[in-house]
Amino acid sequence: MPLESRHLLGLHGMPKADIQLILDTATSFREVLERPIKKVPPLQGKTIANMFFENSTRTRFSFELAERRLSADVLGFQASGSSVSKGETLKDTARNIEAMKVDMVVMRHSAAGAPHYLSQVIDANVINAGDGAHEHPTQALLDMYTIREKFGRLEGLHVCIVGDISHSRVARSNIYGLRTMGAKVSVCGPATLMPRDVERLGVDVHHHIDDVIPNIDVLNVLRIQMERDAGRLFPSLREYHNYYGITKQRLEQARSSITIMHPGPINRDVEISADVADSEHSVILQQVLNGVAIRMAVLYLLATRN
Ligand code: CP
Repeated sequence: MPLESRHLLGLHGMPKADIQLILDTATSFREVLERPIKKVPPLQGKTIANMFFENSTRTRFSFELAERRLSADVLGFQASGSSVSKGETLKDTARNIEAMKVDMVVMRHSAAGAPHYLSQVIDANVINAGDGAHEHPTQALLDMYTIREKFGRLEGLHVCIVGDISHSRVARSNIYGLRTMGAKVSVCGPATLMPRDVERLGVDVHHHIDDVIPNIDVLNVLRIQMERDAGRLFPSLREYHNYYGITKQRLEQARSSITIMHPGPINRDVEISADVADSEHSVILQQVLNGVAIRMAVLYLLATRN
């Protein structure tokens, strides 16, 4: 069965079968990444534009690498070097790029809903690479892939997402995806960093990380988003670290199998101590590698659905 939608805008409402299909397809592409020649032909003749209106290291490189591994032609776009700085609208920019016969658009934007809008004004497949504080679906898919790789399943696992939940598109997409796949999800952080009515997302809410750590399989640690003014919502970074920072000492109460994740970029010794980020519990760099396979799977499944 093909994916239900011709775009990937978010995991809210995505059927379990579609998530399963993406994760299973990524397993085949993960194997390609281990080969001496890491390139396969399925997207030969397809052109993909990566439109990044907001900074990115991992997601941008990961999509670009995935596209090249699948033999697509790749266009890079950054708002600062484009005619957006001369006042061109998002719609006009996208329609001009599409006029050059682009098949797919990958977009990151600071405005929630920007990829959804784009999907209504152009014919190309649109993939959301992060829209404001709304969703970051490929991040959550690569997180789920990494958890499944470690535990062999998602169903029945307990995942806690700790930190700045209210500004986090990663948290939202993970909550939607993990719950669909049968995992239990908790969130933890100061009340000032929780969205209003967060319980309505179907999660348990905690404010004391030490109460949660002994009972979980996976801890997904979020970055304090200073660029979105999160720093104003608690007294100091030192205090945040004292109450919520993930340290070796805190992990003494954890199960031996606890898995530590972080979407990056990391603020070392703020939300996570450097020794935990580099410890045997951490799968942070596996997440990055798996991200290429997930993005190959998404691109492939959308391209072959058309
Ligand atoms: N995880 C993530 O989205 O990282 P970038 O902002 O570097 O793309």
